[in-house]
Amino acid sequence: MGDMEKTFERIAEMSRQSLEKAKNFEKRRFLFSEIMRIVQAKKHLIVLLTGMRGAGKTVLSLQVGNNLLREGEEVLYIPADHVALSDISLYDIVKHSTMHGYTYFIVDEIHSRPDWSKELKSIYDSLDVFVLATGSSTALLRKGRYDLSRRALEIKLPVMSYREMVNLRFDKNRTVLSLEEILRGFRNLSIKYKPYSIMDYLSYYSLPVSLECTPDIGKELILSTIEKVIYKDLPDLYHLDAETIYDAKKLLVYLSSITPGETSISNLAQMLENVGKGTVKTLLTAFSELGVTFAVPPHGKPGKRLRKSYKVLMTPPYRHIIARARGLEPSIGTLREDFFVAHACHAHSVEYFKSKRMPDYVLDGRYIFEIGGSKKTKRQIKAIKEAYLVADTTYSETKIPLHLFGYLY
Ligand SMILES: Nc1ncnc2c1ncn2[C@@H]1O[C@H](COP(=O)(O)OP(=O)(O)OP(=O)(O)O)[C@@H](O)[C@H]1O
Ligand SMILES: [Mg+2]
Repeated sequence: MGDMEKTFERIAEMSRQSLEKAKNFEKRRFLFSEIMRIVQAKKHLIVLLTGMRGAGKTVLSLQVGNNLLREGEEVLYIPADHVALSDISLYDIVKHSTMHGYTYFIVDEIHSRPDWSKELKSIYDSLDVFVLATGSSTALLRKGRYDLSRRALEIKLPVMSYREMVNLRFDKNRTVLSLEEILRGFRNLSIKYKPYSIMDYLSYYSLPVSLECTPDIGKELILSTIEKVIYKDLPDLYHLDAETIYDAKKLLVYLSSITPGETSISNLAQMLENVGKGTVKTLLTAFSELGVTFAVPPHGKPGKRLRKSYKVLMTPPYRHIIARARGLEPSIGTLREDFFVAHACHAHSVEYFKSKRMPDYVLDGRYIFEIGGSKKTKRQIKAIKEAYLVADTTYSETKIPLHLFGYLY
């Protein structure tokens, strides 16, 4: 038996095990059917599934694999960083596998291979196969997009929405609401849509690990995911040195405990003694690309001076988990803004107002929102057209309950 055949058999055996194990995951993230549709339409032969760590990319891609198996297709799952593949090109292993009848390939963590975009390109150009690859969006941003621009379709898997949490955790079947539907129908919707705890979502249940684990264990797992981002992704993908990695941890802990008014970059650099503004900017870009934070630009014409003053929100449940792990209390006001921004930015442009006298956010350059607790009054938005008050409440004639924005995707 040749070396390639031996390697193939090792991979094939492991692939069978991984696909078999994934059958235990009965709940599917919202992109499952969209990816299945794309695969079946065969318009794109390479699909890149990107997203933050722990979003569920591996499980989702294996679920797609199992679905294809049920339809009678031959599917091979390849973890791109497997030792058996360290001196074999992806092209060679995929080509060899086609001789065994395989036509569908799942390549997990594709970015772990230095030449991944060239490898995918050569597969695309000379083999008649379908590849679903998972990876970090950073790697794509850095080099892959250029090599693969016309060949691959990128699908981003965000953190679970509040809607997804409700559906998967409580076995519901709630559909997406458009922004227009929420703005016009919030009174009726808040009667129809029984609210679930926003704090549950913000503190744990926004990640799919919560579908499987008790909060105690799950939160530990999320903390170790964050450690991986800091100690593996930052050095591997951004080539940051040890000192900067140390600052990264400091920055994340500090971010987790600030109030909404303190989230500008210049404030962050000021508060973190001995960390330069440049380092803060580099780290915030990385965190944003890795899906840990959201960088919200200020409202107004894009310009150099303004761009420096991005407002930084965190992807749920990071703020809560990081703060609590350090014995800090996350600000409820900032958590509410995390909730709003995490959902709104999925389908809309989100900007914030720099002026303290103005409300908090503007969506699509048009709809203006002030976000607050249940006692918030209309004072700040009284004189503004198309301005809405969003409150952490279950029903109000005048304020939109915050949880309804959790149905934006
Ligand atoms: N559909 C699901 N049902 C139940 N649990 C899930 C589901 N998807 C993911 N999980 C849980 O979340 C964990 C993380 O998912 P997964 O490993 O797929 O994430 P990932 O995006 O591949 O992360 P990484 O980037 O670190 O590889 C899994 O170990 C599993 O416990
Ligand atoms: Mg994975």
